[in-house]
Amino acid sequence: MSDEAKVQELRRLFPVTGHWIYLYNGSLHPCPRPVSEAMRSFLTDWENGGEAAFFPAFEAFGQLKEKFARLIHTEARHIVITESTTAAINLAAQIIRPQPGQNIVVSDLDFMTSTYPWLVSHPAEVRFVPSRAGEVDLRALATLVDKNTAAVCLCAVTVGSGARLNLAELHALTRPHNIPLIVDAAQALGVLDLGVNNPPLDFLACTASKWLMGPAGIGYLYVADRHVHATPPAAGWLAAANVGDWDVRHCRLHDDATRFQGGIPNLVGVVGALAGLTLLEQIGHEWIEQRVRHLTTYALEQLEKLGVEIWTPRADEKRAGIVFFRCPRHVELHAKLKAAHIYCGTFLNGIRIDPNFYNTVEELDTFLAVVRTHLGAQRN
Ligand SMILES: Cc1ncc(COP(=O)(O)O)c(C=O)c1O
Repeated sequence: MSDEAKVQELRRLFPVTGHWIYLYNGSLHPCPRPVSEAMRSFLTDWENGGEAAFFPAFEAFGQLKEKFARLIHTEARHIVITESTTAAINLAAQIIRPQPGQNIVVSDLDFMTSTYPWLVSHPAEVRFVPSRAGEVDLRALATLVDKNTAAVCLCAVTVGSGARLNLAELHALTRPHNIPLIVDAAQALGVLDLGVNNPPLDFLACTASKWLMGPAGIGYLYVADRHVHATPPAAGWLAAANVGDWDVRHCRLHDDATRFQGGIPNLVGVVGALAGLTLLEQIGHEWIEQRVRHLTTYALEQLEKLGVEIWTPRADEKRAGIVFFRCPRHVELHAKLKAAHIYCGTFLNGIRIDPNFYNTVEELDTFLAVVRTHLGAQRN
């Protein structure tokens, strides 16, 4: 099947494409039909059968860990299902437990998720790596890490410029001090192949939403071996390996990341997240990656011709699915795009588009025509 035929078929799974030229994957991404169907089916089973709905959904919880683990090239015993990326990074921070006198290194390109847990809930100094041309400046990072660095916490793909972090280089800089690496993969997984072994990461946090196509309200945390036996900052009943004994006096913790689980998970979210990862597997990770690269490269080339200020790095290996640019009166441009039924993001004084596999070059041309007209109006 040709790429175009495949895209047309896939567009039928995304009802949003019938209403919008939808070029955004931030906040709440468009829901694919298999995800909403899985969630609806759980709700129907719950309405009709009560607890009967619990068992298959709880099985889905186990399958979700396995599928997510496969995606990041590891095993399910390393995975905690959380309620969000935020909860996952906070859990990692609680496991690290930085002490007064220690420091945490973050970047000014990160999402608040990577900085607030340290700023608010822990006593360590928070050091910000400056950015350079939309990228985390790793040379500057090298001057900030030292023997007192309790963790480096960065986005694999930054939420604004869309720059992709060079994890191998980061690891080479932090290895001499054996500094734990915490990576937020919310804008990376699903559009990039990102494993936790090469280079070795200590924690990887992600959402089920966005490029993984599941609902918001479910997140993931990968916990490396060297942290997997830590005392859980909060102990849930699912943390206990002896849960079947109904022994309220003794909690024998699981010997793996399950010890960080709480109570019954968000089951409707779990079945939706599983459907999202299943769809991702069916479509094919590599195909998605090359399709998104094709669309983002086209968008960048054309935006460059229009003369807007592009914040996203140009080299393929330095970006993923995000294209960010600035231009005069960007808020007005955003309103014009919306009026033309073109959905994109606006923040940090610019416009962000995240073309996904179901978008087409024709859609990008329609978007570019609105940008061109807007820029023309500014010049006249
Ligand atoms: C890179 C990144 N991390 C984290 C988040 C927030 O995720 P959650 O709401 O799952 O905590 C976002 C949301 O836009 C994001 O882009």
